[in-house]
Amino acid sequence: MNTRETLKVNERGHLEIGGADACDLAEKFTTPLYVFDEKHIRDMMGIYRDTLEEEYGGHGLVLYASKAFSCEAMYAIAKSERIGVDVVSGGELYTALKAGFPAGKIYMHGNNKQRYEIEEALDAHIGCIVVDAFSEADMIEEAAAKRGIVQNVLIRINPGVEAHTHAYVQTATPDSKFGFSVANGAAEEITRYILTKKHLNLRGFHCHIGSQIFEKDSFVLAAEKCLRFISEMKKTLGFETEELDLGGGFGIWYTDEDPEVPAEGYRGYLTALLDAVKKGCSEYGLKEPFLLLEPGRSIVGEAGVTLYRVGAIKEIPGIRKYLAIDGGMFDNPRFCLYGSKYTAVLANRADETPEEVVAVAGKCCESGDLIGTNFNLPKAKTGDILAVLSTGAYNYSMASNYNRNLIPPAILVREGKAAYIVRPQSYEDLVRNDEIPEYLK
Ligand code: LLP
Repeated sequence: MNTRETLKVNERGHLEIGGADACDLAEKFTTPLYVFDEKHIRDMMGIYRDTLEEEYGGHGLVLYASKAFSCEAMYAIAKSERIGVDVVSGGELYTALKAGFPAGKIYMHGNNKQRYEIEEALDAHIGCIVVDAFSEADMIEEAAAKRGIVQNVLIRINPGVEAHTHAYVQTATPDSKFGFSVANGAAEEITRYILTKKHLNLRGFHCHIGSQIFEKDSFVLAAEKCLRFISEMKKTLGFETEELDLGGGFGIWYTDEDPEVPAEGYRGYLTALLDAVKKGCSEYGLKEPFLLLEPGRSIVGEAGVTLYRVGAIKEIPGIRKYLAIDGGMFDNPRFCLYGSKYTAVLANRADETPEEVVAVAGKCCESGDLIGTNFNLPKAKTGDILAVLSTGAYNYSMASNYNRNLIPPAILVREGKAAYIVRPQSYEDLVRNDEIPEYLK
C-alpha cells in the first residue's frame, strides 16, 4: 500500500486520511465522497516551487494544471502557496477568478479556444495565452487591438517525443491535435506569423508531451528538442526566447505496478529537466529562459481518496465476484476510458489481510460501468466502506450526471478537520436548466 505520510491505518484499524478517520467522514458526509488531503497538495506544490527557487534561482513559475481538479478551494490553495495556474476553458478561468486568483499568474491553454474565452481572458488581464492555431493568433490580435493592449503569448510546439503512456494522453507524437510540429516546419511558420502581430508579445514556447509519465528521459529529450528549436529561431529569425513552458505529465502511484515516488522524489524530475535546460542554453549560447512547469496529476492525484459504500454483492461461480458501490463511472470514468488501474481498501477493516480478488462495479445501467476488475480485498460485506486511492486527479473533473446520478461532494481534510470544498448536488440541481416547451405541457 501507498505510504504517504497522511494516509495510514489508525488504532481502530480504519483508514485515516489527513488525520481524519475515513469511516467517520463517510458517516458524517455520507458516500460517495471525494476526500482531499490538504497537506499532500501543499507539500507537492511546495516541492515544485522550492526546487525551481533553489535550483534555478527562482527564474520561473510553477503552474498548477487545474484541469486535474478545479474548484475554488484549489485556486485558493495555489494562491496561498504562491504558485500560478493554467486553465483550459472559460469555466476554469471563471472559477479561478471567482476564487480571487491573481490574473497575472494565469496561463490559458486549449487547442480550440473560443472567441468568448479569449475575450474573457483579455478582459481579466491574464498573464499569458498559449497559442495553438493560426486562427487563434488572429482572434487574440483582433481582441487585443480592440482593447488597445498587447497580450503576452507562447506558442505550443510539438517537439515529437513519444512518451510511454496511454495513447489517449500522449500529446507530442506526429499525429496529435495539439501544437505546431517542429519537424514539418509549422512551428517556425507560426513563430514568423506571430512576430508580425502588433498586439501579440511572443514570449516563447510551450510543450507538453503527455501524462502519467515516469521516464525522466522523455522529459529531458523534450526539453533538449525545445532548446534546439529555440536556438534555430534565434539564428533564423533573430527571435530571443524569454519563456519556456515544459508542461506537466509526471506520473503518480495508482497500484504497485507503478513506482512510488516520494514527494521529495519529484525534485529529481525537476533537477533533470533544469539540468537539461541549463546545459542546452550553454551549448547554444542562449540566455536561460523564465521556466514554467505545469504539474496537475502529481499535485492532486495521490491527495485524493474516494469513499463508497458497498451494496449488492454478486458472485458468478467460476467467473467473477462483483462488489457494487454507490458510485461508479459518473464519479470516476477512468477505468472505462483508459482501463486505468486503482488500489482499494476496506476503510472500516483496513488492518485485515486481503483474501480475494473482486471487481468493483458502479450503479449505472451499463455493464462497462466498473472502477476496476482486480481489487485485492478482505471478504467484503454489504455496508463496508470501500476507499479507492489516488483519485484526486481527473476524477471529479471528469465526473458527469450520467443516469442522473448526483456528482459526489468533495471535502478537504487537514489535521483531522474536514470541510466541504464542493457541496453536495441536489435533485433540484439536476433539473435546474431543464425546460418543457409550451407545446409539450
Ligand atoms: N499541461 C498541459 C498542456 C496539459 O494538457 C496537461 C494535461 C497538463 C499540463 C497536466 O498534466 P499532468 O501533470 O496532470 O499529467 N484525463 C486524463 C489526463 C489528461 C491530461 C490532459 N492534459 C487522465 O485521466 O489520465
